[in-house]
Amino acid sequence: MYRNDSCRRRGPEIGLKYDERMTTTSETAPGWSAAAQKVVDLEKDYLLQTYSRYPVVMHRGKGCYLYDVDGKRYLDLMAGIGVNALGHAHPRIVRVIREQTNLLLHCSNLYYHEYQGPLAKKLAEISGLPRTFFCNSGTEAMEGALKMVRSHGGRISPEKLEIIALDNSFHGRTCGALSVTGQEKYRKDFEPLLAGVKFVPPNDEAALEQAVGDRTAGIVIEWVQGEGGIYPLEVPYVRKAKELAERHNALLVCDEIQCGVGRPGTYFAYQLADPVILPDVMVAAKPLACGLPLGVIVANEKAAAAIGPGMHGSTFGGGPLACRVALEFLDILEGLLPHIHQVGGYFRMELAALAKHHSFIKEVRGYGLMIGVELDIPGKEIVLDALAEGMLINCTHDTVLRFLPPYIIQDAEIDHAVKTLAKIFKKAKAGEGSPGV
Ligand SMILES: Cc1ncc(COP(=O)(O)O)c(C=O)c1O
Repeated sequence: MYRNDSCRRRGPEIGLKYDERMTTTSETAPGWSAAAQKVVDLEKDYLLQTYSRYPVVMHRGKGCYLYDVDGKRYLDLMAGIGVNALGHAHPRIVRVIREQTNLLLHCSNLYYHEYQGPLAKKLAEISGLPRTFFCNSGTEAMEGALKMVRSHGGRISPEKLEIIALDNSFHGRTCGALSVTGQEKYRKDFEPLLAGVKFVPPNDEAALEQAVGDRTAGIVIEWVQGEGGIYPLEVPYVRKAKELAERHNALLVCDEIQCGVGRPGTYFAYQLADPVILPDVMVAAKPLACGLPLGVIVANEKAAAAIGPGMHGSTFGGGPLACRVALEFLDILEGLLPHIHQVGGYFRMELAALAKHHSFIKEVRGYGLMIGVELDIPGKEIVLDALAEGMLINCTHDTVLRFLPPYIIQDAEIDHAVKTLAKIFKKAKAGEGSPGV
């Protein structure tokens, strides 16, 4: 799209095609160092080739910025896909990690340690759901929630095993989580997956009502579909899901892995509705331990009763380090919620102002610091241009630019981000309709 741009700068070069820009060599990125090339070459030889990485080798982070091995600085508007909620090297997080690694890293779930109980209590207070299970990732939390749903249904009737999930959703990469992920591209190589899953279109109350019945054991939703393109569900639709789950004694499961834990400006996205629509089960992960792996299944007593002793477990889940960091994070998060709300609103407002100058921007949407900008041109070139400009963003569903910045971001950084985007969009506008898009 930007082939005619003559500006040569260090990083993924502007004058090349997308694939060339993603393949990093000293020809495609003149400033690319031997150290960076070594990292890339080694991965090429020894890693399962699952990821299509951007041409940058990260070295360290501080606050809202990351630095690559060659010392170039990037404004981080992705926060590790929603993980680095307090940015990088937050002093309070660094301190507790230092302290705890000297005390106890792992002790297995054969024994008690000091931090699972307090963290579960804190989660109960902020979520309204009294019981927690600790695991290590989002997909693992979803697996556990699905076991809960299946066991809940099975205790009522052997026929009650259906799960209703939404088109366009994403719930993780393990087989159970894939079974409820409403996107063919993720599922197709691994089918047949879990039987009994029915997909319905989001925000279609009639379709939901038709799909849910007495054989339904659970309804799984994401309040804001993240990977699906930052699509929020409508409040009346979620109310309907709750009502149907209650009517048919099914469990309503909210996947808050990307859209929750402070990102919407509330602790959890289901708290955006007034009155709150409390699910039976909520799963969360990403930002909870600021970069250490930690996932949670948080459930009401009805759902929790479906998992008895020995029915579920984890070797690493809920270790003292991750739990202590999560407690520290949640303590900080309380004071940050109004900031997330304010700064997120400011970011969306500035993006909406930018949209007025560019007809290829279709919509700006989201809550808090979970923001999508839908374009009617492909977004992947824009992501590479942002990288060249020292800014990390991402594109989902081909045309939606996704922003998941750290919660500590300030207006000044947002101003810089919007200015950088304006510069990139100006070029996109000039190249609109050119070959290679
Ligand atoms: C909504 C949602 N659910 C589940 C997952 C899977 O989480 P993880 O990658 O930690 O397994 C993700 C990851 O992006 C997600 O966004």
